[in-house]
Amino acid sequence: MIALRPLTAADAPAISRVYGGAATTFLGRSAMTAREAEEYVVRVGERTPADPVEQYVFGLDVAGDLAGVVKLGRRRDGHGRVSYVLREDCWGRGYATTAVEKLVAFAFTTAGLDSLGARHHPDNRASGRVLAKAGFTRVGARNGMIEYRLLPGRRAPTHGR
Ligand SMILES: CC(C)(COP(=O)(O)OP(=O)(O)OC[C@H]1O[C@@H](n2cnc3c(N)ncnc32)[C@H](O)[C@@H]1OP(=O)(O)O)[C@@H](O)C(=O)NCCC(=O)NCCS
Repeated sequence: MIALRPLTAADAPAISRVYGGAATTFLGRSAMTAREAEEYVVRVGERTPADPVEQYVFGLDVAGDLAGVVKLGRRRDGHGRVSYVLREDCWGRGYATTAVEKLVAFAFTTAGLDSLGARHHPDNRASGRVLAKAGFTRVGARNGMIEYRLLPGRRAPTHGR
């Protein structure tokens, strides 16, 4: 069973494994230390439902294993930005696509967003496949990154589990 769920303090060791190894190649950062992971889950967990949400952060839970993190940033104008990272040993099983599909559903319902965007490095072709399978349309390139858009109801259901 694949689900998006809030992160807790107990997830810190799993988070540092997600943000390690080859997963950092296209994230423009170095591997997350154990200390950084502890601080990260505290920071995310301190947000309360009453806070104006600027970024939703969910753990990707696969049968009890924290396999990745997906994020939804939101702007005041109703546009959201999707991003994701999976632990390296979980790649190639469709998990990221399923996670993005679930995040898209959340974005257009609970979060009430009107449009979504995402981007990836031109060399990160797996990320481009994830976005295409989740229904995003490639709209061009900007600042050396490939840009994608998705509007409600435009999703092409090419995948799902
Ligand atoms: C990008 C990432 C999220 C993909 O996760 P994943 O769970 O492996 O993705 P999925 O299994 O849902 O789909 C991967 C798709 O990419 C394809 N793919 C994998 N490597 C590829 C490559 N080098 N070139 C082209 N396609 C590739 C797979 O074949 C699959 O497509 P298919 O279903 O049509 O065969 C994962 O590799 C990751 O976390 N990378 C590091 C962080 C990152 O790059 N995040 C995105 C920043 S923009």
